[in-house]
Amino acid sequence: MQSILSNEAALGRDVTGIFADRCGHQNLGITMSEGEIWEKTRTWTFKTLSKLGCGNARNMENYIRMASESIFAQIDDSIMARVDIEVDKIFQKSILSMTWLMIVGKLSPEDGPDIELLSDKGRAFMESSFFGAGITNVFPILRFIFPHWLGYNVQMDFFTTCNKIAKNLFLEGKAKQDLHRTPEEAKNFVDLFSQNCNSDPKTFNCENFQLIFQDLLLGSTDTTSSHMEAAFLHLVTFPEIQEKIYREILQVSGEGKPLNFSDRNSMPYIQAFLHETHRMSRIAQNLGPRRVLRDLKYKEFTIKKDTVILPDTRLYCEDKIIWQDPENFRPERFNNSDGELVNTEKMITFSFGKRACPGERQANILSFLLLTSILQRYKLSLPEGETKPRLDMKLGFSQRPYPFKIRCTWRKEFVRDYLQ
Ligand code: HEM
Repeated sequence: MQSILSNEAALGRDVTGIFADRCGHQNLGITMSEGEIWEKTRTWTFKTLSKLGCGNARNMENYIRMASESIFAQIDDSIMARVDIEVDKIFQKSILSMTWLMIVGKLSPEDGPDIELLSDKGRAFMESSFFGAGITNVFPILRFIFPHWLGYNVQMDFFTTCNKIAKNLFLEGKAKQDLHRTPEEAKNFVDLFSQNCNSDPKTFNCENFQLIFQDLLLGSTDTTSSHMEAAFLHLVTFPEIQEKIYREILQVSGEGKPLNFSDRNSMPYIQAFLHETHRMSRIAQNLGPRRVLRDLKYKEFTIKKDTVILPDTRLYCEDKIIWQDPENFRPERFNNSDGELVNTEKMITFSFGKRACPGERQANILSFLLLTSILQRYKLSLPEGETKPRLDMKLGFSQRPYPFKIRCTWRKEFVRDYLQ
């Protein structure tokens, strides 16, 4: 899998069905584009995000603290009211706000309605993608025959909403630029994008900005919230694993100090847990579908030009030769006898080669900081009398757990140290 996906001949995308419609049948954006425009847009976007501090743990820590406040508030309210939490409802909006912060550079009250709208339509998009997106990709005609049944209308509604909001952001940035601002005055991603409109209009135009906006929202929000939901699922199913993680947190932050990303080096068990959650849940089970740009030789086989490659990571994540007991959820497989982190090179979560996920670092910072800050404060359990939730994942745009509920209680140590 690795050698095929890393091959330059396998860098194309299968742009059919809804994936073509969402791009207005143009070669633009990052996720679905190809060739020079893909390379330029991807490189510029992630270099610029990195310049703005995304991917830098220190800056991300501030973003994540802001995003986690609303998650803590929801959990605190549920504890006071003694009600259960529906896990599929708590992460998506906070993570989306963080992506908004990455792109727009601020989270002001006027942004509230746009974020609310993106969150509502985004949730509907995820729920509609149970199998519709896959089928319409194979038989594109079906999206016009059964648009409602296949969720096509809901999916296009999400893309249209994204485009409308992105267009307003772009026009605002462009208007500022037209007031002859100096490069130093560019403060956020939109400003920096607009600065290039005159010198390179082929790449820096409204349509490409709309697609980048869609790509960043879809790429970061659904995947990371699904990973968090899967982590919660395993924490309540295996309380002994949750306690082991909590003991590790106490060792590093005994006095209730907030954890930083650099603390992960002293926390090999939680890192092992996050890897094992990826292995078992396979959020992006088929990685990203690729199209072969020219005949590709692999061993004695030839993969013909235009063949679509849909990697099936189950074959790898469930391989008994690699994992011995792949059916068991066992974070310890990523720790050696001294407790150090090992075997991470065996993971394929973020794919391979030039088209591998460019948000891997952001995703890792987010999942580590969000999860540790939650587990530092709260103990998560299944509600009394509730049967164990199923551990297999629900198909969709990304795989996520079937809906389940949890109960939270405050950790005594956190409340005590925090109040001191
Ligand atoms: C748990 C979290 C995440 C997982 C499991 C994940 C996984 C993936 C995978 C498997 C691909 C396809 C790679 C390929 O085609 O070979 C991908 C692509 C992509 N991801 Fe992620 N991702 C995550 C988070 C993020 C975040 C946080 C961002 C943005 C900040 C992001 C942005 C993207 C983009 C833009 C692409 C398209 C890359 C291209 O086609 O060149 N992802 N991701």
